Amino acid sequence: MSFVEFNNVTFGYKEDDYLLLEDLTFSAEKNDIITVIGASGCGKSTLFRLMTCLETEYKGSITINGKTPKEATGTAAFMPQKDLLMPWRNILKNVTLPLEALPMSKAERISQAKEAIEKVGLSGCENKRPSELSGGMRQRVSFARTLVQLWHGRELMLLDEPFSALDSLTRISMQDWLIGQVKGLDATVMMVTHDVEEAMLVGNKIFLLSGRPVKQIKVIDVSHITCREDLYTPSSVELKNELVRAFLTEKAERGDNI
Ligand SMILES: Nc1ncnc2c1ncn2[C@@H]1O[C@H](COP(=O)(O)OP(=O)(O)O)[C@@H](O)[C@H]1O
Ligand SMILES: [Mg+2]
Repeated sequence: MSFVEFNNVTFGYKEDDYLLLEDLTFSAEKNDIITVIGASGCGKSTLFRLMTCLETEYKGSITINGKTPKEATGTAAFMPQKDLLMPWRNILKNVTLPLEALPMSKAERISQAKEAIEKVGLSGCENKRPSELSGGMRQRVSFARTLVQLWHGRELMLLDEPFSALDSLTRISMQDWLIGQVKGLDATVMMVTHDVEEAMLVGNKIFLLSGRPVKQIKVIDVSHITCREDLYTPSSVELKNELVRAFLTEKAERGDNI
């Protein structure tokens, strides 16, 4: 049994008159680091919404560690596409938030949140408000909040375009930073990105979604790409071009000109 399994899953939003996923089957193994790519609007975030029970009206079966998404509530640490930091809470209190529901002392909560804040390189920012931080720093706070959840038995980390709001240089340093972070985790990671190089660099497998509805996912092994230099080998350049072409073809088929 794989850690995450989608078996013959069919789903479309009630408000929409089309299916997004049709008879879709795929799986992710324990400790896989999977990067998910595909044209905008193809259903990447929707996969996460299904796994975290935000959408429940699907056909087929979804299991996480052998349980339905509902039974598996509390298994996934989810960093949504939009950073949902609370503007009125300082950084420390934003990171302690997911710990507040857990049976632990306030001192313990604070100490774990501080440890996570240190891990993301933001020690000293505990008392600042989100509005006082740059976009990259806010993303790191959001990541720290996801991280503390992993320390409490969450085995699946779902990151939805964690760096989409960043300028390209900050993005590069955040990618290198993330690779260091996820490597030591005992967790299965799925990360959506629209950046092909990021997908190749951070993941050990790429899931490429295409078509409407998505009927299958193409799995590409990129475990041999472990550092930025590996992106410039002839085979990596070829893979990158192939993925970019797949994107462009998909856009053209949809009549999407921008
Ligand atoms: N809550 C929702 N209700 C209705 N339609 C939605 C909802 N969320 C997303 N959609 C639609 O479903 C499609 C896929 O969305 P999404 O999974 O967010 O795409 P992606 O993350 O790949 O860009 C889009 O066309 C989007 O407009
Ligand atoms: Mg999305």
